[in-house]
Amino acid sequence: MGGNATLGFAHGALGLATLKISRMSTRRFLIAGNWKMNIPPIGSFAPESPYRPHPSVDVWVFPTFLDLPGGRNHTLIVGAQCGRPEKEGAFTGDVSMQMLADQHYYAVLCGHSERRRYHGETDEDVARQAKAALDAGLHPIVCVGETLEEREQGKEKDVVKRQIADLPSGIIIAYEPVWAIGTGKTAQPTDAQSMHAFIRGLLPEGDRATTRILYGGSMNAANAEALLSQPDVDGGLIGGASLKPEEFRKIVETAARLIRLRD
Ligand code: PGA
Repeated sequence: MGGNATLGFAHGALGLATLKISRMSTRRFLIAGNWKMNIPPIGSFAPESPYRPHPSVDVWVFPTFLDLPGGRNHTLIVGAQCGRPEKEGAFTGDVSMQMLADQHYYAVLCGHSERRRYHGETDEDVARQAKAALDAGLHPIVCVGETLEEREQGKEKDVVKRQIADLPSGIIIAYEPVWAIGTGKTAQPTDAQSMHAFIRGLLPEGDRATTRILYGGSMNAANAEALLSQPDVDGGLIGGASLKPEEFRKIVETAARLIRLRD
C-alpha cells in the first residue's frame, strides 16, 4: 500500500503553508462513487471509463466486495464499502481491514449511514474501524451526518460533533446528512459549507488545513458546481449519480474545472 505517489494524496508540497498551496497539495478534490449493492455500471472498466483515475481530480469507486478485484484489475482506484477492525476470526460474513490492505485495496468507507442503520454500527464501532483501517494502511472515508428528525430538532451540529469526537487523524470525512441520501434532497450549498466549516473547526489544529471533507447526499451533475464551489467542500461521495457514467463524468469534469478556477 501507499507507495504510489500518483494516486493523489500528494503530500509533497514541502510544508508550504498558504491555504492555496495546501488545498492544491493535500485537499485535492476527491470524487468518490459509492456503488452500494449494485453491479458496476456498463463500461466502468473500459479504457474511456469516467471512473478511471483523472490527472487533476482523485476519482475512487466503492463497488461490492465481489467487484473489487475487477475494478482493481482494470486499474481503477477502488475501495471497500466497509471493513471489520479485528484482523481475523469468527465474524461470519465480514472482511477485515487488514485483509483488504493485504489484497492491495486502497480505501474503505467507515460508518456509512446505511451501515449504521442496517448493521447497528455505533460511533465507537466506526472509530475502531477508522483506526484499524489507518493501521492497515488504507485510506478511510468516515461518514457522518444527522437524520431529518435530528435536524428538525436543531441537533445536527451536536450529532456530528459526537460522531467525529473519537476519530483519529489522517482520515477523510464525508458529511452526509441522512435525509439527503438517495432522496433527491440536497443540502443547500451554504448549509453544507456551514457544517463543513464547523467540522473543520472541531479537528485538531494540525489537521484542519489538510483534512478533506466531502459532501454526500444527492450530489449530481446539476448541483455539483454549487457544492464544490464552497471553500470547505473538498469533493463528493456520490451514490445514485455515480451509477450513471455520463452524470458521474460531468461531476468529475466540474471538479477539474473548479480546480483551475481556484488556482
Ligand atoms: P446518494 O448517496 O448520492 O444516492 O444520495 C450518497 C451516499 O450514500 O453516499
